[in-house]
Amino acid sequence: MLRTHTCGELRQTDVGKEVVLAGWVHRMRDHGGIVFLDLRDRWGITQVVVDSKNARAYAVASALRPEYVVQVKGVVQKRPEGFANPRLATGEIEVHAESLEILSPSELPPFEIEGKKEVDESLRLRYRYIDLRRRRMQENLFLRHRAAQSIRRFLDSRGFIEVETPFLTKSTPEGARDFLVPSRLNPGSFYALPQSPQLFKQILMIAGFDRYFQIVRCFRDEDLRADRQPEFTQVDIEMSFVDREDVMKLVEELMQVLFAEVLGVSLTIPFPRLSYEEAMKRYGTDKPDLRFALPIDDLTPLFFEEGEKFFGGHVAIRGLFVPQDHGFSRKKLDALAQEAKDKHLSFSWVRKTQEEFSSPLKGKISDSLFQRLVAQYPFQEGSVLLLSWGEEEALQEFLGELRVRIGKDLEEKERFAFTWVLDFPLFEWSKEENRWVSVHHPFTAPFDADLPLLDTDPARVRAKAYDLVLNGYEVGGGSIRIHRRDLQEKIFTLLSLTEDEIREKFGFFVEALQFGCPPHGGIALGFDRLVMLMCGEDSIREVIAFPKTQKGVCLLTGAPAPVTREQLDVLGITLQGSRK
Ligand code: AMO
Repeated sequence: MLRTHTCGELRQTDVGKEVVLAGWVHRMRDHGGIVFLDLRDRWGITQVVVDSKNARAYAVASALRPEYVVQVKGVVQKRPEGFANPRLATGEIEVHAESLEILSPSELPPFEIEGKKEVDESLRLRYRYIDLRRRRMQENLFLRHRAAQSIRRFLDSRGFIEVETPFLTKSTPEGARDFLVPSRLNPGSFYALPQSPQLFKQILMIAGFDRYFQIVRCFRDEDLRADRQPEFTQVDIEMSFVDREDVMKLVEELMQVLFAEVLGVSLTIPFPRLSYEEAMKRYGTDKPDLRFALPIDDLTPLFFEEGEKFFGGHVAIRGLFVPQDHGFSRKKLDALAQEAKDKHLSFSWVRKTQEEFSSPLKGKISDSLFQRLVAQYPFQEGSVLLLSWGEEEALQEFLGELRVRIGKDLEEKERFAFTWVLDFPLFEWSKEENRWVSVHHPFTAPFDADLPLLDTDPARVRAKAYDLVLNGYEVGGGSIRIHRRDLQEKIFTLLSLTEDEIREKFGFFVEALQFGCPPHGGIALGFDRLVMLMCGEDSIREVIAFPKTQKGVCLLTGAPAPVTREQLDVLGITLQGSRK
């Protein structure tokens, strides 16, 4: 070994030992004749002292620059009285160098490792190896590793086995575009990278494995955002002979163990549950952030009862009550009114200041309605009721976003708020495609009681699906599956797939369903999102070692990149631009 100890290891009990350390030059200070060197590695930082009396070592030390990789031989000594650094685990000691050697020099890094300044993300991604030397990024990846280990241990202890499924496969429908890989051996044919291992995990149930999991990369060619990457990691789970409750209970226990082991946080289970409809109504989204309350109220019945004309016959009137004084100035309220207007919505408010209610609605609606309205809420000094009315969907979106914006600034909120969202519709109507599409995927089972509706009113069929939501992010989604061929074919037909398409796309799967398929269900957790939230980050790029930009580019390697004519020729591919 090129070292006897790491840079985070030495303590007072090591004083007097001869040691060899190796690492990066983190910081240097020359105090006239003595160089203090902070030597850094993954484990920590150790102070090295190089005295000019040791001429050779001192000459080397004087030539060092940040990020040089060096090896130091020396003796551990207690730091002089008053010079201990309580912020460092090794802060009681220092190593007095006997020899110092440069193992590898470094160019001047494009940004400081622990600088105070915010570094442009594209520079960080271009020099990711420098960026990953930063403590924050190292901590994030350590946590990610611990989370993966904790999940593996838990699932193993519950009888799950990890099985790898192919990356070169057929299209798997999860609603995004596929990444395609041309096959040299079969010109004109393409593999698709899996959007998820959905069909393979179901086939593993048919094969009798009973309990499967995989921490697995998935690929989706879709528009990217802070919580979306073209390749991302799922904790993919499938179980046989279970119902919704079993899967949800398992996931709750998994989360409880994970958060306790990795963060020391104790989660209360079972998690709260919301129906899709409730979530949309109360929070304006199917992934509500429940770290704070701030529910959206349907005020339509109240206004109806009063026969109020002012609202122009609008059927949807919603209120968002903010009990705390949130500093809603007149200017801010006017800006919100403008935002609402841009979304073709109307907007108003009621504010309480100095025991008085002020509101543009005063005088416009009847006194009795105004009194009934304010009586619904525990107004205190500074409280505001925000009201909006107009088209239902736009209202939900506007108030849902507003609620999150306000909630995020609240000081008093929970750190982690999980919730299940249940009872999604099985289908939604796609205006672009002019057909029903699956809200989750086509393998999700409908409610037994809703089976007759498949023929009469598909919009009202509910799915045996469940989404797991944490702090306003969808961190998981799953369902009980269809395990009978006839029902699976019926769903495909409802999704407007022809018999030929069913055979071509899913023939192997439909066939497998005929050979004794156990009732089964599962879930996939978005591992990057989960780790992001555990790390307190707001982009999954901060918890992925080598992520891509919003445009799907890896700034480190330059992927994607053009290929040579010869490579394309072998694959029998002609690019449109080069066809002449
Ligand atoms: P779903 O499509 O809901 O379900 O995906 C499961 C979870 O994966 C995460 N996720 C993503 N994370 C980062 N970048 C992306 N582009 C991305 N897309 C999805 C989300 C999501 O909740 N086969 C089903 C699961 C099942 O039915 O068992 C599936 O893939 O956190």
